[in-house]
Amino acid sequence: MNPLNKHSLSNQNDLSSRCANFSPGPAYLPDAVNQRLKSLIETRLTTGHSVLEDSHRSQSFAQIHLQIETLIRRILNVPKHYIILLLPGGARTQSAAIPMNFIHTGTQPIYIETGIWSTLASREAIRYGDILRKTKNDELNTQHLKDCAYYHYVDNETIDGFYWSELPTLQHRRVVCDMTSSLFAYPPQFDQVGLIYAASQKNLGLPGMTLVMVDSNWLSEARPLSITPSVLNYPLQYQSNSLVNTPANITWITGLFMLEWMESQGGLTKLIEHTELKASTLYQFLDASDFYQARVQGKRRSKVNIIFETPSTQLDQSCVDFLESHGVIGIKGHRLVGGLRASCYIACPLHHIQHLIKLLQAFEGQYG
Ligand SMILES: Cc1ncc(COP(=O)(O)O)c(C=O)c1O
Repeated sequence: MNPLNKHSLSNQNDLSSRCANFSPGPAYLPDAVNQRLKSLIETRLTTGHSVLEDSHRSQSFAQIHLQIETLIRRILNVPKHYIILLLPGGARTQSAAIPMNFIHTGTQPIYIETGIWSTLASREAIRYGDILRKTKNDELNTQHLKDCAYYHYVDNETIDGFYWSELPTLQHRRVVCDMTSSLFAYPPQFDQVGLIYAASQKNLGLPGMTLVMVDSNWLSEARPLSITPSVLNYPLQYQSNSLVNTPANITWITGLFMLEWMESQGGLTKLIEHTELKASTLYQFLDASDFYQARVQGKRRSKVNIIFETPSTQLDQSCVDFLESHGVIGIKGHRLVGGLRASCYIACPLHHIQHLIKLLQAFEGQYG
């Protein structure tokens, strides 16, 4: 049997056999992807071999690599001159790699701090040189914008539930966007952004890999610091076809399953539509309620990380407990911001949101 066999992608009502998982990541995987992962292991047990035991230099792995890249290009419509790197570690690994490779390609890079992840990215960069930290409302000097090594922002702040992607007028595309929680749920802005990175554990399967898509013209200007570890050296990773070291093969293969699942769902347009439908369903319920309150208002609301609260922190906790006792998990807000957070990444089905709403109504009926 082909170890990468596809299984039925039909959307079944699964809540009798599994939890509705709103975890911020690692996140919910579609049943079809779980089935294929199961079959990957079973193949090993029944045939004595699986691609999981193949070298990352083997033909079979090269084929998987090629399929991943082809699908990413097709689904996201990646411009030809963008290079795709599949790098080890998470998004924070790349928060270090980016300054290591690019901090010396201009004057101070600009870091826009819109929430917790963008602030952590700037704190990471500070270790490697001088940077300029700004909020989204700060005035930016036109000359500095022109000369800066790059401009870094996070479009979707996963912890704060805040979405922002209004860039100033930039004459170049030395713009870096962390799309860890928004990739495939929002359209990537290749016309304005020269480097997009996204860790795999939210919309691309399991943790352990970060996708980097970078304009080749800009990559050719990289000047890695002498302390840059080989695995974080972008030009070296490019020359080595992202295989400077042994990749997390199960994460790559799960990424491939996720990409095939995305295509089966109708590709990017459908994923974005589905994301909007899910978000509007939950926000409409929250906005109509006198008991629950959405944390972020207006166009800054994230469509994937929906933060809300009850009238008190005590009730927030009781609500989390109530939901968990009914099979809804991963919904407690981040410890730094409290409240509840429903992370509705691309694999989260609409009926899980509808189920959540019913339970929230029941909780309100008891405590409201
Ligand atoms: C937007 C964003 N950036 C960075 C990170 C950090 O990712 P990692 O744990 O893969 O380093 C996260 C994790 O949730 C995130 O949501």
